[in-house]
Amino acid sequence: MLGVPQVITISGRGLSKTDLDVINQSRIREFGSETLINPQPDNEDWKRLHFLVKSKGKLLSYGRLIEVEVTFMGRSFKILGIGSIASIIKRKGYGKLLVLAIKEHIKKTKKTGLGFCNKDTTEFYRQCGLGIMADGKKRFEPGSTRFPEGDAVYIPGDDQLIEKILQQPGEVAHLSRPQW
Ligand SMILES: CC(C)(COP(=O)(O)OP(=O)(O)OC[C@H]1O[C@@H](n2cnc3c(N)ncnc32)[C@H](O)[C@@H]1OP(=O)(O)O)[C@@H](O)C(=O)NCCC(=O)NCCS
Repeated sequence: MLGVPQVITISGRGLSKTDLDVINQSRIREFGSETLINPQPDNEDWKRLHFLVKSKGKLLSYGRLIEVEVTFMGRSFKILGIGSIASIIKRKGYGKLLVLAIKEHIKKTKKTGLGFCNKDTTEFYRQCGLGIMADGKKRFEPGSTRFPEGDAVYIPGDDQLIEKILQQPGEVAHLSRPQW
């Protein structure tokens, strides 16, 4: 029995080696990731917020937030990218628990939250109450070379960035880093 799962919010510097190993193995398995999460005082992983669902010390689901700047029609927006969402044990509600905690956190910041997904995971994000921008990957550059097709998922922020993008379907938003 795994017991009651809990969500832990922690900066990269606080991640244990055991959890990091599970996360990095999962990222290779699920996404074919070629880079490891390796928090060091001089890199961005050190301060980034990581969300873990754990029970009895076992990591069940994982995700992180990435600070991103978006430029749209000459204006700049500081948003939170939702990335690396993966459950080690699937279809037990751990992914939803994780994303609901991330959603609550983002809402408190009043920033826009933005993620990207393939069509086969869109329904999962809908179940978690995120907004769906169908084929939204096309609205943000640079895109992902490995996963070019799919939707954007979002949590609207006070900056109304998503509303602005939806109102101007001919315009593309520019990201400070490629889709994550
Ligand atoms: C997508 C993923 C994170 C979902 O995590 P999970 O822990 O299995 O999801 P949950 O059990 O919390 O499911 C929550 C709800 O979404 C639904 N759901 C989960 N995965 C789904 C899928 N692939 N398609 C449709 N619905 C899905 C569940 O039925 C559930 O609905 P319910 O609340 O009505 O029962 C998991 O499948 C995973 O790790 N996939 C591989 C990595 C990945 O693709 N991550 C997404 C990157 S954008």
